[in-house]
Amino acid sequence: MENKQVAISNFGGPEVLVMQTTEVPQPKAGEVLVKVAFASVNPIDVKTRAGLGWAAAQNKDKLPWVPGYDISGRVMATGEQATRFVVGDNVAGFIGFPLQGGGYSQYICVAESELSRVPDSVTLEAAAALPVAGQTAAQALNQAQVKEGDCVLILAGAGGVGHLAVQIALAAKAEVYTTCSEDNLDYLATLGAHAINYNFAPVSQRLEKIDVLIDLVGGDAALDALKCLSDNARVVTVPTITAELICEKAKLLGFEASGILVDPNPEQLDTMLYMVSVGLLKIEIFQVYPLTEADKAHQQIETGHTRGKVLLDMKC
Ligand SMILES: NC(=O)c1ccc[n+]([C@@H]2O[C@H](COP(=O)([O-])OP(=O)(O)OC[C@H]3O[C@@H](n4cnc5c(N)ncnc54)[C@H](OP(=O)(O)O)[C@@H]3O)[C@@H](O)[C@H]2O)c1
Repeated sequence: MENKQVAISNFGGPEVLVMQTTEVPQPKAGEVLVKVAFASVNPIDVKTRAGLGWAAAQNKDKLPWVPGYDISGRVMATGEQATRFVVGDNVAGFIGFPLQGGGYSQYICVAESELSRVPDSVTLEAAAALPVAGQTAAQALNQAQVKEGDCVLILAGAGGVGHLAVQIALAAKAEVYTTCSEDNLDYLATLGAHAINYNFAPVSQRLEKIDVLIDLVGGDAALDALKCLSDNARVVTVPTITAELICEKAKLLGFEASGILVDPNPEQLDTMLYMVSVGLLKIEIFQVYPLTEADKAHQQIETGHTRGKVLLDMKC
């Protein structure tokens, strides 16, 4: 049996994503072998492939490197002392973060402590879409201590993280405002948010008295959104590149502000998979690409206008 993977041997554009074939790995103690059904593509995969950010700096002498932190699939074998799962179980996880990655593989060995069981009523597509984006959304809202009745502004509500953040904030009974382009106004209104077209006018001219800002865009959009906040507002800014700038400006204006680095947490993923299974969270899949078209999946993420999530289908 062979194991096809997409790897990078040098940093660069989407064309550096190349198929390679290795042996199927054997699970070590505490690990299970997963036949990956779907992997999701996150902006961090794209940035690392381009040689940007911490994961790229740490991996530059360890190429070829296989990207991918989000997987779903089926347990094919269990290593010694791996007792949580049996062969045939469907699992999902936020794996190998931040240095190892490896999700763009047909087979991968994963510590069973990094995995969650996928309920029968949740598709493997939805399960692969959820880990990084869902946990970033949940952790950003937790960090901002969003509670019932808060007016929450989420910049980029239509994206991978945003569409989940909108739904989790609504489930917490917050009043949710969110920015998007015209194409996504109806989609976000259907989820129950007040959707605001950022191309029409700056959000600062449209909103006031916001209690919590969840910034998924950074830069000028975030600086503008600081003008909509009430006294004592809380700000969590998610894109790492501009986090320091946004936090500095927010604190000068008297707000509580922090950046975030998502932290894999399988128990939190269990909860989110349960929310999907009972219909409290609806996962939006923009497109599923075959593994052989990982370059096209990266190009789509690079447009900056993906609604929901992009997946790789590992069958090829
Ligand atoms: N710190 C961490 O641990 C962490 C973890 C995960 C993600 N992140 C970062 O968080 C950001 C969001 O991630 P993601 O996965 O959600 O990205 P994504 O799925 O690629 O986001 C795409 C979405 O952004 C929207 N968008 C683009 N420009 C916008 C603007 N000016 N105003 C409002 N919306 C805009 C687009 O909506 P329209 O098409 O309607 O414009 C699109 O739906 C990225 O920078 C990512 O790197 C950080």
